[in-house]
Amino acid sequence: MRRRLIVGNWKMHKTASEAAAFVQRLSELVPPINSLEVVLAPPFTALHAVAQSPASRSFALAAQNLHWEDQGAFTGEVSAPMLKDLGCRYVILGHSERRQMFGDRDEGINRKVRAALRHGLDPILCVGETLADRESGRTQTVITDQLQRGLDGLSKEDLRRVTIAYEPVWAIGTGHPASRAHAEGANTMLRTTLESGWGTEAGEQVRILYGGSVTPENASEFLASPQIDGALVGGACLDPHSFATILTLAQSFAR
Ligand code: 13P
Repeated sequence: MRRRLIVGNWKMHKTASEAAAFVQRLSELVPPINSLEVVLAPPFTALHAVAQSPASRSFALAAQNLHWEDQGAFTGEVSAPMLKDLGCRYVILGHSERRQMFGDRDEGINRKVRAALRHGLDPILCVGETLADRESGRTQTVITDQLQRGLDGLSKEDLRRVTIAYEPVWAIGTGHPASRAHAEGANTMLRTTLESGWGTEAGEQVRILYGGSVTPENASEFLASPQIDGALVGGACLDPHSFATILTLAQSFAR
């Protein structure tokens, strides 16, 4: 059975000291977490502060990006070994904000996925269609293409360590989440693609999350679905109360 996973993507929010205070508060608000996995993805500059906080013990740590080379003359970039050394277990890759604003392309994302795996970081690969894609009936083509290109060349063993986040671009930060039926449909397409590429057994164990305007008010709708293995939360993870509420709800839907 796939263990539920809730990831809080902080994006470009919180200084290191704000991050430490946030984790302390969050740990006071959530009951002991035993039936699901919770991952915090602060900005690079706050990873150390979160990792060092005793209050972060029940949470795993993720970075929001990496560079595929281990080291070198790449001003402003951060590598997988650096993130691993800071205590990261996961890394979010191919987020639509990176694809749309910073030129991330499938080929580079694939290199990042491989770099993560090579250095013991588990990739969380984001895929999702834009509104224009959706309106022109291209959702399936776009998301399955992003999935296949992002995971190109991975073995079944590699796939065990991969998580997919389906995040329709039109639902991110808009306050208009996808319907449960839309998210389930997309997740089913993604799982079918995984199963035809890597076999049923390998495809079956990959967690596929939903992300895009998940809030304490609508989280249950997604978390109750057998096709949705958890959530990638943006805005609603920045406030300790609302994130704690989502985590408490998620525990009640634990598998
Ligand atoms: P929001 O929850 O703010 O829509 O962001 C979703 C997201 O992009 C998480 O990675």
